[in-house]
Amino acid sequence: MKAMTVHRPVLLKEALELLAVRPGAVYVDATFGGGGHTRALLAAGARVVALDQDPEAIARGRAAFAGEPRLTLVEANFRDLKAVLDRLGIERVAGVLADLGVSSFHLEDPERGFSYRREGPLDMRMGAVGMTAAEAVNTLDEAALAEILRRYGEEPMARRIARAIVEHRPIATTTELARVVRAAVGFRRAGHPARKTFQALRIYINDELGALDALLAAAAQRLAPGGRLAVISFHSLEDRRVKRFLKEHPDLVPLTKKPIRPGEAELRTNPRARSAKLRGAERR
Ligand SMILES: C[S@@+](CC[C@H](N)C(=O)[O-])C[C@H]1O[C@@H](n2cnc3c(N)ncnc32)[C@H](O)[C@@H]1O
Repeated sequence: MKAMTVHRPVLLKEALELLAVRPGAVYVDATFGGGGHTRALLAAGARVVALDQDPEAIARGRAAFAGEPRLTLVEANFRDLKAVLDRLGIERVAGVLADLGVSSFHLEDPERGFSYRREGPLDMRMGAVGMTAAEAVNTLDEAALAEILRRYGEEPMARRIARAIVEHRPIATTTELARVVRAAVGFRRAGHPARKTFQALRIYINDELGALDALLAAAAQRLAPGGRLAVISFHSLEDRRVKRFLKEHPDLVPLTKKPIRPGEAELRTNPRARSAKLRGAERR
């Protein structure tokens, strides 16, 4: 099952166009994943420093790109981009790309605990360290859980769900949690009732917004003049942050007034692209 998974890169052509790749220059792929964007950057002639916090993604990448001298793969959180570049002796880069969130490898592997549709341990960590989702749902108090659901899931029924979680603890698996949420929410909404809860826990467990802020700041600082930043986000909490950062940073000129969205053809063939938004900026 694991070996069959394929991650289709989202907004590939659009992101490459936005980065306007210069052959021989150094580009950062902050979210290596299945390596789709990295492959395209290499094909365009770039040298690539690719990061992923997931050791499994890095191991797959090392096998798939063995012997590629223009690629440096680093297991690291992109919040540490500056330290990674310092270690490699790279002062400035020509571009930074981030394709945020989880990959199909995460969603389709029940053992990683990201999917409310697949029975697995409630883990949700993208990297190998930190608190699991099980630890969070089984130890945080009701008010803290409600706040996480409200803040990171924009869940209107946060209190009710948090109360149900506390009443049903301990909760060990993804499907158990999904059942608890479904019972608390009822059938009052379109889509899966646990979608927002899972999104919220994932963002909290991986401190996704904190990492994004650090990445944006590091990218703005380490881009060479004329260098470009491209960010693909998948929900409004991320997109709002990216939009505001690109607009307000004194050294960046936004290249996308409105976000670039996938075209019809991509939406037909890649359901994961549905909520994708690409924004970009150029360093002054
Ligand atoms: C949407 S996938 C990227 C897919 C990739 N662009 C491709 O074409 O295959 C996002 C990847 O970024 C990684 N990731 C997410 N947040 C990260 C962070 N803060 N630091 C490093 N890697 C991160 C995830 O582990 C995942 O593998």
